[in-house]
Amino acid sequence: MNIDLVNDIKSDIKVEFLDKNTLKEHKRYKKLKKAGFVAEQDSICFLHEKGILACGIEDNNTDNIRSVVSVAIKTLKNANYKSVSFDVNNKNIKAIVEGVVLGGYEFNRYKSKPKKSKLKDIYLACGDINEVKEKFNEAIIIADATNFTRDIVNTIPEDLNPPSFATLARKLAKENGLACEILGEKQLKKEKMEAMLAVGRASRHDSKLIHLTYKPKKKAKKVVTLVGKGLTYDSGGLSLKPAASMVTMKMDKAGGCAVLGMMKVVSELKLDVEVHAFIGAVENMIGGDAYKPDDVLVSRSGTTIEVRNTDAEGRLVLCDVLDYAQDKVKSDYIFDFATLTGACMVALGQYTTGVMGHSTKLKHDFMMRAAMDSGELLGHLPFNRHLKKLLKSGIADISNVSSKPYGGAITAGLFLDRFIKEENKDKWMHFDIAGSAYTDSPWDCNVYGGTGAGVRFMSNFLKNIK
Ligand code: BES
Ligand code: ZN
Ligand code: ZN
Repeated sequence: MNIDLVNDIKSDIKVEFLDKNTLKEHKRYKKLKKAGFVAEQDSICFLHEKGILACGIEDNNTDNIRSVVSVAIKTLKNANYKSVSFDVNNKNIKAIVEGVVLGGYEFNRYKSKPKKSKLKDIYLACGDINEVKEKFNEAIIIADATNFTRDIVNTIPEDLNPPSFATLARKLAKENGLACEILGEKQLKKEKMEAMLAVGRASRHDSKLIHLTYKPKKKAKKVVTLVGKGLTYDSGGLSLKPAASMVTMKMDKAGGCAVLGMMKVVSELKLDVEVHAFIGAVENMIGGDAYKPDDVLVSRSGTTIEVRNTDAEGRLVLCDVLDYAQDKVKSDYIFDFATLTGACMVALGQYTTGVMGHSTKLKHDFMMRAAMDSGELLGHLPFNRHLKKLLKSGIADISNVSSKPYGGAITAGLFLDRFIKEENKDKWMHFDIAGSAYTDSPWDCNVYGGTGAGVRFMSNFLKNIK
């Protein structure tokens, strides 16, 4: 599928957005009414003989446009048209690009005979190309990076394991001019990253710590550290997951995949910020060599951790990676992305990323700005001292799980907080993408599988750094 800006071109079919009011003024109102089209949000109606595809919207807001374009593009991909056109302007172009590129996404790597679509050309028609060009290019870069992230998330654990994750990161680094350093198990031992190493011990794949760096040509406005949970498979370990919960656990690397997508965005948009990505790529398996509930691990920071559940492995990987990242780079912001807890889904639903941290300003920036116009949903989960106490251990400095069953997303966040150095407390935010990173049914511009959660709202944040 090609998507391009054009001045004026004849396409096989033209998309028109209609709400309840504009519908009544439409030249073909009677025909549309007869077809049962009442401009309900996400409803579509073909007037084949007129070359029109009417798309219903509640009103002109960008969320509504992105959503109906996603519905339209899926139908168009199965229809017989070769080209489609949309009228675009600076206000709606981002939503239309997202609807087309994200809503039209398919992952066919494992289909022996993928369906071929006849739809080849998407024309975005505008009066003056120069006026919308910048927004168009930016929207394409961010949407493509989101699909890049989805592709990796969707890749099966046999193909995407810690070493192949590292290879993929190296390839991205080469293509996009990033520095790349990979630490294998020997170096992780030297770094005393025993918590991370314990999680990966029963896997036949070596654990890897991936560090990518983007440095701008001009002086960097700020330095940003991005940390991603990259569990290429989470079986739960000896605290084995029930069969049904294990399915989809290839997605437990989504935080790391999102961080790679963000690196793609910053380097392609050539932003004036220095960005470091740290990904802990590990596979959590069972075997005679597996780490156990009852083990006590000495983390890189020296803090000892009682393992009470080997399925709470993400925090064990992240505590060492966060500690390493803080020693390696002095940065203005530290953000981590992780499919950390099922509890986050219980708290906020499947569509919303959980946001945790200490800084009121950062929380405000993300909740009110970065998320709102990125199309992603964020929900704040507040820390408190009572929940913090639930991580006490009788034998070690901290337990890897809470002693009570409620507030699991927050206690996981508080576990990570223990590894954030005092001087960095207000620079850090934790994003739990357990619900938002993967879906078994389409919603908004997301389709079955990885959603690329994190890439869009973080790109928005990075773009606006002053
Ligand atoms: N990777 C899971 C969290 C998860 C669950 C992500 C479902 C996406 C969908 C994580 O490693 C995990 O298993 N967490 C446990 C923590 C518990 C043992 C304290 C959980 O959420 O049940
Ligand atoms: Zn787990
Ligand atoms: Zn996990």
